[in-house]
Amino acid sequence: MSKKVFLRTFGCQMNERDSEMIAGMLKEKGYEITDDPDEAQVILFNTCSVRQHAEDRVMGNVRQLRSRKKKDPELRIGVLGCMAQRHGEMLFKELPEVDLLAGPSNIYDVPDLLARSVSSEKVIAVDKKKRPGKKAAGDHRSGVFSAFVNIMYGCDNFCSYCIVPHVRGREVSRKKKDIVDEVKSLIDRGFKEVTLLGQNVNSYGKGLSSRTTFPDLLEAVNGIRGIERIRFTTSHPKDAAKPLFRAMAELDKVCTHLHLPLQSGSDKILDLMNRKYTYSDYLGKVELLRKMVPGIGLSTDIIVGFPSEKVRDFEATRRAMEEISYNSAFVFKYSPRPPAMSSCIVDDVPEEVKKQRNNELLALQKKISLANNRGLIGTEQEVLVEGKSRMSGAEMMGRTSANIPCVFPATEALLGELVWVRIDSTTPNTLKGKVVQAKGRRLAP
Ligand code: SAH
Ligand code: SF4
Ligand code: F3S
Repeated sequence: MSKKVFLRTFGCQMNERDSEMIAGMLKEKGYEITDDPDEAQVILFNTCSVRQHAEDRVMGNVRQLRSRKKKDPELRIGVLGCMAQRHGEMLFKELPEVDLLAGPSNIYDVPDLLARSVSSEKVIAVDKKKRPGKKAAGDHRSGVFSAFVNIMYGCDNFCSYCIVPHVRGREVSRKKKDIVDEVKSLIDRGFKEVTLLGQNVNSYGKGLSSRTTFPDLLEAVNGIRGIERIRFTTSHPKDAAKPLFRAMAELDKVCTHLHLPLQSGSDKILDLMNRKYTYSDYLGKVELLRKMVPGIGLSTDIIVGFPSEKVRDFEATRRAMEEISYNSAFVFKYSPRPPAMSSCIVDDVPEEVKKQRNNELLALQKKISLANNRGLIGTEQEVLVEGKSRMSGAEMMGRTSANIPCVFPATEALLGELVWVRIDSTTPNTLKGKVVQAKGRRLAP
């Protein structure tokens, strides 16, 4: 009987994609993937180190398995991804129930490690070698219409608070042809939307022998027959510029959404964060983008409570959020991440203050999102029908081109279709409306 594997993913979309590749490789080797940990003989956590909270959750999940592991020593437990890379063998000491560790560059080794871990005590692969651009065996995808496609690995930016360059290594771009071939095969399998993934997609092409840029890549993917939508994440504001905005304006399959993490509205804090732009540089780019791509949806990431953040710095962030008026924002409380540089600066903003600033900005964004969504009432929006609405069985859900969730009465017959929805009401997070045109299909009566 084949062994059952439970694989749980924490962290960003790159980790989600890595988990798909791990699942694909394991299926090829005859394992079965299960979503019930209790029936699994192998339990794997693909982990994130971006904030302490993310690591604590994994620690808690592994510790919960302690008594089961005592009763069933055959159970294999693995910690994969960024935490394995950050802590290495130390994790075996802290979590004695763990049998295998593999860093993000070693995901291709997981099937082999798992086979070895059955006969040997503990196995580990966390060499920081460059990540190979090779294809993983077994092309497993968790979505049906929308798929992630890696275009590059690692990051060279070293924002002072960030662990990612330390655990994912330096930037390596995949070849344009390999990316285009992967997208073509996804479209042949019925996928409609791809999200191109990299920590900083705007520096795509660095180090490749052919001089390729991210806008070149977007153009190539836009030309693939049958593709409906192209999204990408993430863009670093210092590198997002006119050629990208022009590509977004001219290429019809590229969605009108940009995730552009601001992090802080204070130039002092941006400098300490090593972000390499000022707020006014950022604002200038947003103004140009809005002129070139009307209707563009903007989202962002904000960190509150960075060391030495004073009330006036926080107020600058608040004003920036009001001025830019994002469609959505993720707000995070600063968490020191040794060996990232900022961990050398005293973490001097008290937890209570971080929490309060976090809540204030979330409440502010809620108001802004609601006002922006209200502005869309009466408009018609193109939506890719992705699945059933979580709230009501009679409704389907999808996202607008600007990446705003939208629900509307419809049947499953429209799954995977691009439809037009007239917006008639909204909450801060979700637009509601009625389908006015189902492309290529007649509406179900
Ligand atoms: N490469 C992407 C994603 C980085 S991680 C980017 O540059 O946008 C996602 C977000 O987590 C970051 O944008 C940042 O807002 C937040 N983050 C990263 N490190 C953090 C830390 N040490 N404390 C709190 N938030 C952090
Ligand atoms: Fe981290 Fe900055 Fe790189 Fe994003 S760009 S992954 S925040 S170092
Ligand atoms: Fe987390 Fe690693 Fe992604 S630290 S955010 S899973 S790159």
